[in-house]
Amino acid sequence: MELAVLGLGRMGKGIALRLKEKGHDVLAWNRGPGPRDEVAAKGCRVVDDHKRVAENLKAPRVVWLMLPAGDVTEQVMQDVLETLSPGDILIDGGNSFYKDTLRRHAHVEAKGVNFIDVGVSGGLLGGEVGYCTMAGGQKEVFSHIEPVLRDMSIEGGYLHCGPAGSGHYTKMVHNAIEYAIMQGIGEGFELLKKGHYGKDLDLAAVAKLWTNGSIIRGFLMDCTASALAKDPDLGKLTQRIDDNGEGKWTIQEALDYQVPFLMTSHALFSRYLSREPEVFAYKVVAAQRHEFGGHKIHDKQ
Ligand SMILES: NC(=O)c1ccc[n+]([C@@H]2O[C@H](COP(=O)([O-])OP(=O)(O)OC[C@H]3O[C@@H](n4cnc5c(N)ncnc54)[C@H](OP(=O)(O)O)[C@@H]3O)[C@@H](O)[C@H]2O)c1
Repeated sequence: MELAVLGLGRMGKGIALRLKEKGHDVLAWNRGPGPRDEVAAKGCRVVDDHKRVAENLKAPRVVWLMLPAGDVTEQVMQDVLETLSPGDILIDGGNSFYKDTLRRHAHVEAKGVNFIDVGVSGGLLGGEVGYCTMAGGQKEVFSHIEPVLRDMSIEGGYLHCGPAGSGHYTKMVHNAIEYAIMQGIGEGFELLKKGHYGKDLDLAAVAKLWTNGSIIRGFLMDCTASALAKDPDLGKLTQRIDDNGEGKWTIQEALDYQVPFLMTSHALFSRYLSREPEVFAYKVVAAQRHEFGGHKIHDKQ
């Protein structure tokens, strides 16, 4: 099938190359030239201007956006939309907030262009072994692009989740679960490192062991084992953990629906704490204890 992939970052490049390898006719665009040259060397057609994508595709055109959520996706989508015709299909494969996606569905479809939101999981490895893809939008439009979803995904790894926005919504909750699992693994290894057997335990060996047959095996444990094998103390990194918003959006959604969302909340706030060299709240608590009970405070050295 002919399609364009716009945005050749870690994910977009992997998707473009995987689809090319599966026999699709891939037209690719990236803002910077480096990734364009890389995919061109592997057989993709390329354009250097996203506003020229449409003129290089046959109708009905299929255009896949794989860009940072928010302003970048919005801007590129608007630019491309102006060049598309009724019946064409726009796909947003990034981690967009589902309420933005709902607004975009209405806006794009008002122009007669079809819109599908796809949550993509699988990270860097997905380009090799296949991704897990979650699609939202009209079933007939999904059916039209199904060959693309089938070929980019691992066997059995794609689903039409439901109506507009449901692909991104499902991916948002997926990522919130990911926060919680990652935090659980992180805390477990902190106790292994600091607890009773700390000095005796080879953390990289334990992580590797747990990838092998244990109940908590899985991709995130594989990643833990791989990182600890390379740097057993993780001494090369700081503790700062960034986030792209999915945890926050999911917690806000859980609040709106009064769904207890303890694990991801804990994980998200831990990420916020990880960015603080000094936590004022802790100083306030220590000061209160000192004020009411004369409990010891620890002066700065
Ligand atoms: N990484 C993951 O594991 C993962 C997994 C699932 C979903 N996602 C989602 O997939 C999307 C892409 O993620 P990624 O990891 O591939 O990102 P990335 O590696 O950081 O690549 C970002 C891409 O966006 C382009 N870009 C950035 N700012 C731009 C601008 N102002 N105008 C035009 N293009 C711009 C970059 O082009 P240049 O090369 O010119 O900078 C690059 O192609 C995001 O929505 C992300 O949340 C990521």
